[in-house]
Amino acid sequence: MTLIVKVGGANGIGGDQLLDDLARQGAPRIVVHGGSDETTRLQAALNRPARFVTSPSGHTSRRTDRETLEAFAMATGLVNRRLVEGLLSRGRRAFGVSGLDGRLLEGPRKSAVRAVVDGRTHILRDEWTGNPKHADGNLLREFLRLGLLPVIAPLAASPRGEMLNVDGDRAAARIAGAVGAETMVILTNVPGLLADARDESSLIGHVPESELERAEAAAEGRMRKKVLGAREALAGGVRRVVIADARRERPLTDALRGIGTVLGEPLEERTGAPA
Ligand SMILES: Nc1ncnc2c1ncn2[C@@H]1O[C@H](COP(=O)(O)OP(=O)(O)OP(=O)(O)O)[C@@H](O)[C@H]1O
Ligand SMILES: [Mg+2]
Repeated sequence: MTLIVKVGGANGIGGDQLLDDLARQGAPRIVVHGGSDETTRLQAALNRPARFVTSPSGHTSRRTDRETLEAFAMATGLVNRRLVEGLLSRGRRAFGVSGLDGRLLEGPRKSAVRAVVDGRTHILRDEWTGNPKHADGNLLREFLRLGLLPVIAPLAASPRGEMLNVDGDRAAARIAGAVGAETMVILTNVPGLLADARDESSLIGHVPESELERAEAAAEGRMRKKVLGAREALAGGVRRVVIADARRERPLTDALRGIGTVLGEPLEERTGAPA
């Protein structure tokens, strides 16, 4: 059974402990990653600081004009190479690819984004984000059959073949569904879904699929994408999604023991590695 691991791109994720743990897992894996922090850093270094916009419903997102898309492609490309390097040097045949390549991920472009500026709604047209609606399961299975460990950067192709910035959590959810994964793990820089985002001790341990709305109500900001990704993964046949802390000594092992937030079916009681 293939295990999908989404490695967050937020500040503080991706050290040796995570790579050691990722390399140690025996099951076939697919790694999907983010790159928000690296993108913000690169944009600042290029003297084009990141800008964020708020939608009429109150969601904040990165303004992604063409220049930002290209910075995102560079930054996530670097994150991808670092993960590949880390896994290769630990004996795993990691193979880095973005979701754009070969239309591994495809979905519609959100070409017009509504944003509120000084109380007025504007339509932003030069936007290059999308919704990764479809993952190519055949291509993914082929990588696995060849003994490769795919490491996937969060870009996608629009139906016209345009490069799009997509959310890594939602990309991972589609990938998990496309390969019939049982479990998807989302490693990030908080212990899981928190009832109060400012209080790390307020961890919500388990959310059955029937209570996802409760989880959606608790999630603010960028955590919303994880809950949305979890909903999409469960709808796609994945049995459970575990949102867990990447900063632990054995982040993946602990996530597979249920340390974090389990959405969907609980993990079976087991002491060893997952099937
Ligand atoms: N209820 C909540 N519980 C936990 N975290 C929350 C909650 N609401 C908002 N957050 C925020 O969500 C953030 C995690 O999402 P973020 O997108 O920043 O990381 P990531 O997905 O790991 O990185 P990337 O998007 O680059 O892959 C946390 O750092 C926290 O600030
Ligand atoms: Mg995120």
